[in-house]
Amino acid sequence: NLSGLDLRAEIDRLRKEKNAVILAHYYQKPELQDLADFVGDSLELSRIAAETDADVIAFCGVKFMAETAKILSPDKIVVLPDLDAGCSLEDSCPPDKFAAFRAQHPDHIALTYINCSTEVKALSDIIVTSSSAEKILSQIPVDQKIIFGPDKHLGGYLQRKLGREMLLWPGVCIVHEAFSETELLKLKAQYPDAPVAAHPECPAHIIDHADMVGSTSAILKFAKETPSEVVIVATEPHIIHQMEKAVPEKTFIGAPGADGNCNCNICPYMALNTMEKLYVALRDLEPRIELDEELRLQAKKSLDRMLEMAS
Ligand code: 13P
Ligand code: SF4
Repeated sequence: NLSGLDLRAEIDRLRKEKNAVILAHYYQKPELQDLADFVGDSLELSRIAAETDADVIAFCGVKFMAETAKILSPDKIVVLPDLDAGCSLEDSCPPDKFAAFRAQHPDHIALTYINCSTEVKALSDIIVTSSSAEKILSQIPVDQKIIFGPDKHLGGYLQRKLGREMLLWPGVCIVHEAFSETELLKLKAQYPDAPVAAHPECPAHIIDHADMVGSTSAILKFAKETPSEVVIVATEPHIIHQMEKAVPEKTFIGAPGADGNCNCNICPYMALNTMEKLYVALRDLEPRIELDEELRLQAKKSLDRMLEMAS
């Protein structure tokens, strides 16, 4: 029974006692973002995980992120407060089906979004994040055929932006898929001067109305720097917490779903992590991420290529 515990103070005590670093993605609950040592996008958090000298990484994010941390920092204990924190993109791409798809296209390389399992990373040539995808894709020779998975919307966005054909895996993020074009247009009519900042996991019918497209970190930077007083944010709405902290005088409005509000766009996987579960994870150093060593080394190759090509 954790009632009566000052969880924030206990987490602070355990973080020091265990020499732990707490990493949080922008889609985490505000209280978890506020006590994290670092808050960032997928690429930034991978880099920190690879370089930290902490003994324990407590990852407030989803499983593929914690596994990425373990792939890059195998000697550290990596805990994820809730092991059920998955991702619809990862679920859309079972390794056996992905292997079969690759086998059907032996002349293609696999450029793969980091939102996938360790097994799929091991079957891939180069990993990308939303913040590094354009830079990495533009370094691949134009005559090289490419499979891009698992996010068909990010893949479609890259194809349109860089004019490159790729074979797309048909996965989607259920969160970004839920934005409603009709409701977004109503909101734009209400705030005609407000720019729309969208994540590339959004479908094309949302991206078409965006003034800026980028990773969570890029969206946050845009929100801080734009002279506009009101910004419409087409990504998971917990990122608005960082925007309100950075520029409290501006107004940030989450892009709506079909019901006209942004609550249906909260990531149900990210939301599984709580202060209580983080406290228990630090106290017990469980649940831990453990990976088969051969699989880890194979997956590390494609992640290392990302870190080299993105730098
Ligand atoms: P980035 O933070 O890298 O933009 O990723 C967004 C996301 O959906 C993570 O699950
Ligand atoms: Fe996966 Fe989408 Fe949730 Fe990110 S927001 S973890 S892509 S389901």
